[in-house]
Amino acid sequence: MLTDNFGRRFYYLRLSITDVCNFSCTYCLPDGYQCDQPRDFLSLDEIKRLTKAFAELGTEKIRITGGEPALRKDLPKIIQICKETPGIKRVAITSNGFKLPEHLPQWLDAGIDAINISIDSLDPRQFHAITGHDKLKTILKGIDLGLADGRASIKVNTVLMREYSGKDIQSYLDWIKDTPITLRFIELMQTGDNKEFFDAQHVQGSRIKQNLILDGWLPVIQNKSAGPAQEFYHPDYQGKVGLIMPYAKDFCNSCNRLRISSSGKLHLCLFGDEGLSLREQLQSDDIAPLQAKIVSLLGDKKATHFLHEKLTGATKHLAMLGG
Ligand code: GTP
Ligand code: 5AD
Ligand code: SF4
Repeated sequence: MLTDNFGRRFYYLRLSITDVCNFSCTYCLPDGYQCDQPRDFLSLDEIKRLTKAFAELGTEKIRITGGEPALRKDLPKIIQICKETPGIKRVAITSNGFKLPEHLPQWLDAGIDAINISIDSLDPRQFHAITGHDKLKTILKGIDLGLADGRASIKVNTVLMREYSGKDIQSYLDWIKDTPITLRFIELMQTGDNKEFFDAQHVQGSRIKQNLILDGWLPVIQNKSAGPAQEFYHPDYQGKVGLIMPYAKDFCNSCNRLRISSSGKLHLCLFGDEGLSLREQLQSDDIAPLQAKIVSLLGDKKATHFLHEKLTGATKHLAMLGG
């Protein structure tokens, strides 16, 4: 099992398969995706070797991320490769859901276990203002189809922003009364590209937490390796609520994940590291050197991210690394 100098165990890999995105979310890529160099994304063979190497080192869950992962035509094949790798128990995806009804059957048939979809407003006009696209109806239809199918669990991600969130929170809670999804409110994170936006829009999740508790929401008992979201349930609601508050002091203590960028760099943290290339070791079917490199690089993982000092290192926006 991959373990760092602070005793944290890493059984969860976030694999970015492209940094290209078709949306232009105000907090992430307000000017849309800018292509300033030729893209050289991991091939299927490289993904196969990588997945095998991590699985043998104890990885049990792979989350496929982007940019927008569904922009790659071979996404179903990638899901299948991950799913068929011995040792991998769960394959998940994080997507903006732009063609969810069309893509869903292919993902499910390939073996996807969990789907996280971003919906930053339930108001179609606000959704359009945030993402630059008029896709809310399509995405909600896809979620209904996914729930009816039942093979994959579904979470919805909502980034908290001062301008939108206040009015919207009640409509989200109304939605999950009869909808069995986990809805996560995510505190906006500062990146290199969104400093001004961050200062104007950042709101803390702690107020929402207080209100939830006052309204009878109860904390889900989670083990130490549950990941970043604090979860709550309510006897009158089918859905659950999660809060992701990366500025909370102890957020990094339970870090259980490593990241691979779409060009094959290992990132030990979402923030503050440039990534360390594994590309050379990914060219051979002999994965022992690849595994040795991963183990040795893990020794440099820091205790926490640098968000508290407002340093964001190399992270210009989260599309670079899929969050
Ligand atoms: P699960 O696998 O379902 O627990 O999903 P997840 O919450 O880990 O993944 P998702 O891709 O849905 O990400 C939700 C939000 O959490 C995004 O804004 C991510 O950037 C953020 N997030 C996930 N992991 C980390 C982390 O290690 N550090 C920080 N700062 N944010 C994270
Ligand atoms: N702060 C918080 N969440 C972000 N996401 C993208 N950029 C940011 C940011 N700066 C979220 C997306 C998606 C998830 C992968 O990360 O909305 O739900
Ligand atoms: Fe929006 Fe995600 Fe695309 Fe960034 S990567 S623009 S958050 S859909």
